[in-house]
Amino acid sequence: MKHLLVTGGAGFIGSEFVRHMASTHPDWKIVCFDKLTYAGNLDNLTPVQELPNYAFVQGDIADREVVRYTFEQHQIDTVVNFAAESHVDRSILDPDAFVISNTVGVNILLDAARQHGIERFLHVSTDEVYGDIEGDHLSVENDPFMPNSPYAASKAGGELLVRAYHVTHGMNTVITRGSNTYGKYQYPEKLIPFFITEALEDKPLPLYGDGRQVRDWLYVHDHVTGIETALLHGQSGEAYNVAGENRQHNIDVVRLLLSLLGKPESLIRYVPDREGHDARYAMTAQKLKALGWERQYTFEAGLKATVDWYLAHPEWWRKIKTGAYLEFYQRQYAERLKASKGQGE
Ligand code: NAD
Ligand code: TYD
Repeated sequence: MKHLLVTGGAGFIGSEFVRHMASTHPDWKIVCFDKLTYAGNLDNLTPVQELPNYAFVQGDIADREVVRYTFEQHQIDTVVNFAAESHVDRSILDPDAFVISNTVGVNILLDAARQHGIERFLHVSTDEVYGDIEGDHLSVENDPFMPNSPYAASKAGGELLVRAYHVTHGMNTVITRGSNTYGKYQYPEKLIPFFITEALEDKPLPLYGDGRQVRDWLYVHDHVTGIETALLHGQSGEAYNVAGENRQHNIDVVRLLLSLLGKPESLIRYVPDREGHDARYAMTAQKLKALGWERQYTFEAGLKATVDWYLAHPEWWRKIKTGAYLEFYQRQYAERLKASKGQGE
C-alpha cells in the first residue's frame, strides 16, 4: 500500500488524477493537498470525498510547516506535484504568485520530502519550458529550456530544482512535461473551456493575433494515464514528454468547437495578441510510449466529450463565472475586445 500525496489535486488535471488513481489503485491511501486558490475547487473531488482511503488537507506547498506536518501525519511515501499557478495570461499580469508557488514552493516541497525520506517524487511540468518550437521540430526531453512567459520560466525553475535534488541528494525523481490539456472540470479561463462557456452564452470569442498559433492538444484522461505510467515505470532522474501528438492551429480548434456547439463563426473576434505569445508547441512522446503508454482519445472524441460535459454541467461553470472571475475578464479582455475585428473585417 502506497501513501500518495497529490498536491494541487483540487485543480483540473490533479483532480482527474485523484479520481483516476482512486479507481485504479483502491489499495493506496490518497491525500489531496491543495491551497484552494481561485482555480482549486472541492466540487471536482465530490466523487472521491467519501472514500475511506482518501483525505483532503488545505495547505500551501510554500508553507514548510504544514507540508512537514502532512508528510508525518499521513506517513507519505510518494508525491505527485501538480500544485501551481497555471495560466499564462495571469502570469503576464501578476507574475509574483507564479515564482512563489511554481519555483519557491517546489523547493520547499522537495526539501520536506527529502527530510521525510520520501520513496518517489513525480513533478508535473509542461511543454512550455521548451519555448517556441520553430519549423517542424518536435521537442525531445534533452532539448534546451527556452521559456518565454513568466509561467513557463517559473515552471522551468521548479524543474531545475527537481533535477538538483536528484543529483545532489540522490532523490528518486521523475518529471513529466504535458502538452496543452483539455477536458471536464477545467477552469473556464483556458482556451477550450473559456470559448465553450462563452459561446454557450453567445458572447464574443477573443482569438489572439491571427489565430494561427499551434498547440499540441491532449485529453485530460490521457495526460493522467501518462503521469501514472511515468510514476509506476519511469526511470529515476528522467523526464518524459506527455504529448498529445495532435497539433492544431487555434482557429481550427475554435471552428471545430463552434460546429460541435451549433454556434456561428461570427462569434470569433480577432483581438490584439498576447505579449510574448509562443507561436508553436510540439513534442514527441516516443520516450513515454517506450514505457507502454498510448493515448486513447482522438481530438474529435475528446472535444466532443468535453463539450458534452460543459453542456451537462452549467451549474459547475456558472458558479465560477462571477465575482473575481469577472474582474479578471475585464482586465484581460475589455480593451482587447474594443480593438477587435471579426472575420473579413
Ligand atoms: P489548475 O490551475 O486547474 O490547478 C492548480 C491547482 O493547484 C489548484 O487546485 C490550486 O488551488 C493549486 N495550487 C496552486 N498553488 C498552490 C500552492 N502554492 N500550494 C498548494 N496548492 C496550490 O491547473 P492544471 O491545469 O490542473 O495544471 C496542473 C499542473 O499541470 C500544473 O503544474 C501545470 O503547470 C501542469 N500542466 C498543465 C497543463 C494544462 O494544459 N493545463 C499542461 C501541462 C502541464
Ligand atoms: P491557453 O489555453 O491559455 O494555453 P497556453 O497559453 O498555455 O498554450 O491558450 C491556448 C492558445 O489559445 C494559445 O495560443 C493562446 C490562445 N488563446 C486565445 O487566442 N484567446 C484566449 O482568450 C485564450 C485564453 C487563449
